[in-house]
Amino acid sequence: MTPLAGKVAVVTGASRGLGRAIALALAEAGADVVVAARSKANLESTAHLVEGSGRRALAVPTDVTSFQQVEALMARAVAALGRLDVVVNNSGVARVIPVAETSPAEWRQMVDVNLTGVFHGCRAAAPHLIAQRSGKVINLASVMAAVGLAGYASYAATKGGVIAFTRALGVEWARHNIQVNAIAPGWFDTEMSAPAWQDPKVRERLVHDIPARRIGRPEEIGPLAVFLASAASDFMTGQTVFLDGGHSAA
Ligand SMILES: NC(=O)c1ccc[n+]([C@@H]2O[C@H](COP(=O)([O-])OP(=O)(O)OC[C@H]3O[C@@H](n4cnc5c(N)ncnc54)[C@H](OP(=O)(O)O)[C@@H]3O)[C@@H](O)[C@H]2O)c1
Repeated sequence: MTPLAGKVAVVTGASRGLGRAIALALAEAGADVVVAARSKANLESTAHLVEGSGRRALAVPTDVTSFQQVEALMARAVAALGRLDVVVNNSGVARVIPVAETSPAEWRQMVDVNLTGVFHGCRAAAPHLIAQRSGKVINLASVMAAVGLAGYASYAATKGGVIAFTRALGVEWARHNIQVNAIAPGWFDTEMSAPAWQDPKVRERLVHDIPARRIGRPEEIGPLAVFLASAASDFMTGQTVFLDGGHSAA
């Protein structure tokens, strides 16, 4: 019942949404969890929820676009909780905007958080995971890397990058016994997707694209994250699992 007992996980973007749901699921599976994002108060709420399931928690305010801050985050995890086993690179931003209206600064911001943030998490965790010859990395991609939707081109490009990076890094780190996989969520009910779902017409159209005919609930991502963080997935690396109600398959 606790496949992650004795493990320490770092989850970025854990101040709300899918990151918070993943942090709680890992804690319920037995892991101590370090939660990171920019908003301290929300992070502390997640940390209290983790402690509620009987695990140790540490909230470390971090901007994933800063390599220095991400390096400090991994070092804090090891110093405070004794080890580092699981890294979930979940922080992300989505701006729905046609390319013709996107400024270079807006493009860079999305790349900096969604793609460079994933690189920072992997690069900063590398010395710890490689030295202990084990580790699990879970990167958050998106169904938008597999289906086209107007307004999402820049976001989709960052998530396509996450899938390619995950595949290549999975191969590169297989020799170190570190598994690197990604989850590509479809539409999930979080603050990020709320603007799209508020408009009933858009909602109707989007639901029509999803064979399950509904949006995902954040807690539905937990079991997959636990699987990818546990020994049950030791022979799986470089893969992206689409958790999307069939959206990418249709
Ligand atoms: N919800 C969906 O439908 C959906 C679908 C596909 C993929 N995804 C992906 O799943 C992940 C989680 O999304 P979500 O729906 O939970 O979004 P969300 O509710 O908007 O949460 C995003 C998280 O990222 C953090 N974040 C944003 N910028 C950051 C930065 N510079 N440094 C550190 N943390 C930062 C936010 O915390 P702070 O603001 O406190 O920093 C927050 O915790 C993202 O990678 C997203 O692209 C979501």
